[in-house]
Amino acid sequence: MKVLVTGGAGYIGSHTVVELINAEYSVVIADDLSNARHEVIDRVQAITGTRPLFYQINCADKRELQTVFTRNEIDAVIHFAGFKAVGESVHKPLQYYRNNLDSTMTLLEVMEEFGCKKFIFSSSATVYGPENPHPYKEEMPAIQSSSPYGWTKVMIERILTDYTTAHPDFCAVLLRYFNPIGAHESGLLGDDPNGIPNNLMPYIARVAAGQLEKLTIFGGDYPTPDGTCQRDYLHVVDLAVGHLKALEYAKSHVGVEAINLGTGNGVSVFELVQAFEKVNNIKLNYIIGPRRDGDLPAFWADATKAKALLGWEATHTIEDMCESAWGFAKNTSL
Ligand SMILES: NC(=O)c1ccc[n+]([C@@H]2O[C@H](COP(=O)([O-])OP(=O)(O)OC[C@H]3O[C@@H](n4cnc5c(N)ncnc54)[C@H](O)[C@@H]3O)[C@@H](O)[C@H]2O)c1
Repeated sequence: MKVLVTGGAGYIGSHTVVELINAEYSVVIADDLSNARHEVIDRVQAITGTRPLFYQINCADKRELQTVFTRNEIDAVIHFAGFKAVGESVHKPLQYYRNNLDSTMTLLEVMEEFGCKKFIFSSSATVYGPENPHPYKEEMPAIQSSSPYGWTKVMIERILTDYTTAHPDFCAVLLRYFNPIGAHESGLLGDDPNGIPNNLMPYIARVAAGQLEKLTIFGGDYPTPDGTCQRDYLHVVDLAVGHLKALEYAKSHVGVEAINLGTGNGVSVFELVQAFEKVNNIKLNYIIGPRRDGDLPAFWADATKAKALLGWEATHTIEDMCESAWGFAKNTSL
């Protein structure tokens, strides 16, 4: 089975490509490298012994995508490509709507042209918005969001739902990720954003490596056990495996299905910092600062549907996540 992985050079995409190759799928990557490095392809080869086919293209470019589909008989698409920084999306909404929506719609048009009917989409817990109580369940209304980034996920879920209604032989799996962290055990792949990291773990890793002076924890007065925000952190390799399970599911199903990928547990920012310090034997320089706009106090997944439908559940611990994240950061930055 040949799988097109858009955004396959990125953080979650590259880990998924490794798992796909290990499971003997044939992989084609389409990535414009707007937030990734070409070196990732070499690293995937170093880990798996197989070099995935790589096209440096923008997925909103129809001609380029048609070329990929003409040269390769694509059976399924896993669509990671997109911009993902919540804060940036507030300041650059048009770029986010243009990139995330155009790439998805172009992809669907080209898939239709070539008769490709299996689609796995990177959605997010952000679609549950600020109103739903946690743990979040898939049947809750996903019609609200707090950022343009979040709205692109809500809108793309809508597009895929309407598309599937119009094409009943199509299968779209909407994977709603919670907070992926950690890295590949080889230390060769991980979260390595350009510039100052937006997400907690790469920020922690850069403070640990001495590249950033200190970590500011946003808010210590939330109504949570230790006052810091609680999130559902899951290991990126568990998340990658979730995509393989979703692909298996899509092979024998049609219709649209939203599925949470999370552990089902809330861990506070403070607990994560402490776990990082303990497992890696490092003292982190941190302070508690004011709350950050738009952050919710706490949320985590109800992860029962993923287990029931896909036979998937997270297996890695918070300690595994902290150890592997540091293993990768040491490899790349020291
Ligand atoms: N990391 C998270 O915490 C998280 C949580 C929920 C959902 N997601 C979603 O998962 C997906 C992957 O996230 P990630 O953390 O791996 O991000 P990432 O930025 O590392 O990966 C995205 C990749 O897509 C590429 N890309 C962007 N726009 C493109 C386009 N138009 N054409 C071709 N390539 C393009 C980038 O170069 C990058 O390699 C994104 O859609 C993101 O919104 C991520």
